[in-house]
Amino acid sequence: MSSKAFDPKDSGTTETSAEDLRARAETLPGSSGEAPQGVVTTATGSLRVPGPATTTMGVVERHDDLGGEPVLAFQDVDVRFATEFGSVHAVKGVTFDVKPGEVVALVGESGSGKSVTSSTAMGLLPPSADITGSVKLGGREVLTMTDSQLRSIRGQDVAMVFQEPMTALNPVLTVGDQLTEALQLHGLAFGTEATKRAVELLTMVGIPDAADRLKQYPHQFSGGQRQRIVIAMAISCSPRVIIADEPTTALDVTVQAEILELLRSLKDKMNTGILLITHNMGVVADMADRVCVMLHGELVESGTVQQVLQRPQHPYTQRLLAAVPRLGEALETAEPEPVTSTQTAVKYAIEA
Ligand SMILES: Nc1ncnc2c1ncn2[C@@H]1O[C@H](COP(=O)(O)OP(=O)(O)OP(=O)(O)O)[C@@H](O)[C@H]1O
Ligand SMILES: [Mg+2]
Repeated sequence: MSSKAFDPKDSGTTETSAEDLRARAETLPGSSGEAPQGVVTTATGSLRVPGPATTTMGVVERHDDLGGEPVLAFQDVDVRFATEFGSVHAVKGVTFDVKPGEVVALVGESGSGKSVTSSTAMGLLPPSADITGSVKLGGREVLTMTDSQLRSIRGQDVAMVFQEPMTALNPVLTVGDQLTEALQLHGLAFGTEATKRAVELLTMVGIPDAADRLKQYPHQFSGGQRQRIVIAMAISCSPRVIIADEPTTALDVTVQAEILELLRSLKDKMNTGILLITHNMGVVADMADRVCVMLHGELVESGTVQQVLQRPQHPYTQRLLAAVPRLGEALETAEPEPVTSTQTAVKYAIEA
């Protein structure tokens, strides 16, 4: 383990190795992972607070373990969309959960229902969605929340990081304005205190010269830096859960590793649960504690990362893993089966 001190000036560059990032993360305040409940870590030290951290000026809160209870729980979640072509059954009775400090990877082919499932936790689905079942955030039912309750949990209890950072950033507002807006909206910090906190957050996610860069616009940052800013916004209100939907797919491989390392270090510091949606089985092996596999809207397999990656039970998971290239090995692709007339009928999710 390196003892290299954290120097914001040399962070955020593509030359940074994962080793460097890990070392840096460990030198960040509160990174010992031992901050007791009620202690809020800030870039300038720790302060003991009487109530929840959301009423303080601290940068991030370390959440408690909830006695092993999940921080996010999907129970029999079913989603149908009414469309002009009929009903689309996108999610079919999905049950799984995420515990504090845990990374649960949600994998599955395109259109299998990963984003729709995770969006239910933010109340982000359009009115055309008919959702049944239960989605609980820290024990509170999300599906029956009013719009104002949903607005208050977004950011505060659950935050989302999407594939393309520009979709989450406003191109005509400075990064500083966007960061301070989130803090003010949730009543966490105002005026110069909010600016100070924004600097601390940017520094924390590895953006050098944060005070100056707050005055810049999103297009003046690299793709990797933009995703760091989105992550800074996501953690600004110390959410209990971060949903990361393909957070690194749009980035090059080196930057991908840095962003994942950043998410991991923040998770360790804050004891946040992470629901990580990804197509990349390497990322799953590297990051996840547990894995859920979706196919055609159903959860077909779930288990610890060792169970699922080493002894996949469902044929789809087996195919998914067989398709991962290994260095020095030929791809294990099965001989294509002869096409019969019955196989040419494609089953769509649309039920008419
Ligand atoms: N607003 C909507 N109206 C109708 N159908 C929708 C809507 N949103 C999603 N769907 C459908 O729901 C299904 C699941 O979509 P979802 O976005 O969850 O897939 P995904 O697993 O996230 O795929 P990808 O890996 O490509 O992101 C798809 O068939 C999609 O077309
Ligand atoms: Mg998706």
